[in-house]
Amino acid sequence: MDHLLIQGGVPLRGRVRVNGAKNACLPIIAAALLTGEPVIIEGVPDLLDVRTMIEVLESLGSAVDYEPDSGLLRVVSGDLLPAAPRADLVGRMRASFLVLGPLLALKKRVSLPLPGGCAIGTRPIDLHLKGLAAMGAEFSTVNGCVEGETAGLQGARIYLDFPSVGATENIMMAATLARGTTFLENAATEPEIVDLANCLNSMGAAVVGAGTTCIRIEGVAGLCGTRHQIIPDRIEAGTLLLAGVVTGGDVIVENALPDHLKPLRAKLAEAGVVVEEVGSTAMRAAANSRTAAVDLKTMPHPGFSTDLQPQFMTLMALSKGTGTVTETVFENRFHHVEGLTRMGAQIRVEGRQAIVRGQPFLTGAPLTASDLRGAAALLLAGLAAQGKTELNGMGHLWRGYSRLEERLVSLGARIEHISSETERAMQTGV
Ligand code: EPZ
Repeated sequence: MDHLLIQGGVPLRGRVRVNGAKNACLPIIAAALLTGEPVIIEGVPDLLDVRTMIEVLESLGSAVDYEPDSGLLRVVSGDLLPAAPRADLVGRMRASFLVLGPLLALKKRVSLPLPGGCAIGTRPIDLHLKGLAAMGAEFSTVNGCVEGETAGLQGARIYLDFPSVGATENIMMAATLARGTTFLENAATEPEIVDLANCLNSMGAAVVGAGTTCIRIEGVAGLCGTRHQIIPDRIEAGTLLLAGVVTGGDVIVENALPDHLKPLRAKLAEAGVVVEEVGSTAMRAAANSRTAAVDLKTMPHPGFSTDLQPQFMTLMALSKGTGTVTETVFENRFHHVEGLTRMGAQIRVEGRQAIVRGQPFLTGAPLTASDLRGAAALLLAGLAAQGKTELNGMGHLWRGYSRLEERLVSLGARIEHISSETERAMQTGV
C-alpha cells in the first residue's frame, strides 16, 4: 500500500499556497447540472473527491473537461440521462448526494443510492429529504436507493433542525428552479455556502442571505452558464498553519482568506500563537514556545470547524497542560486518537469529549489513517515527532488534499512517498 515515511523534528519554514476549497467545488460542480449551457469553474483542486464528482456527472450524461494543472473544469450538461448515477460512485463519496436537489428540480424524479455512513458517523439525510418534501417532493427508499419524484417543486418555508451544510446546499439548488419563493431558516452559514450561492446567482438564480441563518431563494424559469472562481480552502489553510505551529516553525500560507480562519486564529491565540495577516490573502503562524493547553469545542460555522478538530488535537497533544476536545458535529470523529496514543500522546476519550494531557514530545510510529482529517492529524504528528513515522491509509488524505506532502517538503519537511510499486521493488530487490 502507498504510504509516507516521515522523519520528524524539522521546523517547517517558508511560504506555501492553498488550493481551491474541496467543500466549495463539490456542490458547485453539482450545480452545473442546473443548466445546459457551459459552466466553467476555476481553481478546482486535483482531489480524488473531485474525480469522483466528475464521474458522477459523466454518468448522468454531462460532458466534463478537467485540466488538473490549471484547475480549470468545464461542464456542459446536455439532456441528462435518467437520473440515476452509478451506485458505486455515490457509495464512494457522500458529496455525490448533492446531485439530489438539481436532478429533482430538472427531471422531477431522482433515484440515488443512499450515501453510506463513513468512519466519522452515520451521516443521515433526513434533513435533505424533509426540506425537499416541504417543496412538494415525495420520497421512498427502495433497495437501498432514495426514489424521489415531484409534479414540480414549489417554494416553501423550511426550518432545518440542524444547520446541515449538505441539506442547505441541496435545498438551495433545488429552490432556484422551484415555482415561488423558498425561505430556508436555521441554514448552514459556512463560507462554502456563500460561494455556492454566488455561483448560482452568476447563473441567474435569485439567492439572498447566504452566509446568514436565513436564506431566501426566488425560483426562476431557468439558469444560464457561468465562469466561477472557487474560494480558497480554509481547512487546508488551517492544516498548513498548524503544520508550522506543531513543528515549532514559521509558515506563511498564501491564497488564504483571514475572515474564513477567525475561529482557528482565536483558538491559536488562546494557546499562545499569534496568527498574523500578511496582506489581504495570506496568513503567518510562528510558534515561539510550547503552546498552552486549551479547551476546544467544534460547532457549526462560525464556530470552530469540525474539519480542523483532529489537526488541532495534534497540537494539544504537545501543549503544556491538559485540555479538552468536544466534538459536537459528528458522533465518531476521534479515530486519530489511537494513532496519537501510539506516538506517546496521553488522551482519554469519554463519549464526545477527549481529555488531552500534553506531552513534551511524541515519538514516531507505524500508523494507519482511517479518515481524511484524521490522516492530516497523524501526518502533522509525524512531522512534529522525534524519529520516523510510517503513515498508511494515504487514500484518505488524497481525497481532500492535493500533493500535500510535496508542499510540506517545500517547507523543509522530510517526507518520502513510498508507492506500492516502489515497496515491491524494494522487497524483491529489483
Ligand atoms: C459537510 O458535510 C462537509 N463535506 C464536511 O467536510 C463537514 O465536516 C460538514 O459539512 C460539517 O461542516 C462537504 O462539504 C463535502 P452536515 P455534510 O450535513 O454536509 C447531521 C471534510 O472533512 N445531519 O453539515 O455531510 C450529520 O449526521 C468533510 O471535508 C443529520 O442529522 O455535513 C452530522 O452529525 C467531513 N441529518 C451533522 O448533521 C441530515 O440530513 C453535520 O452534517 C444531514 C446531516
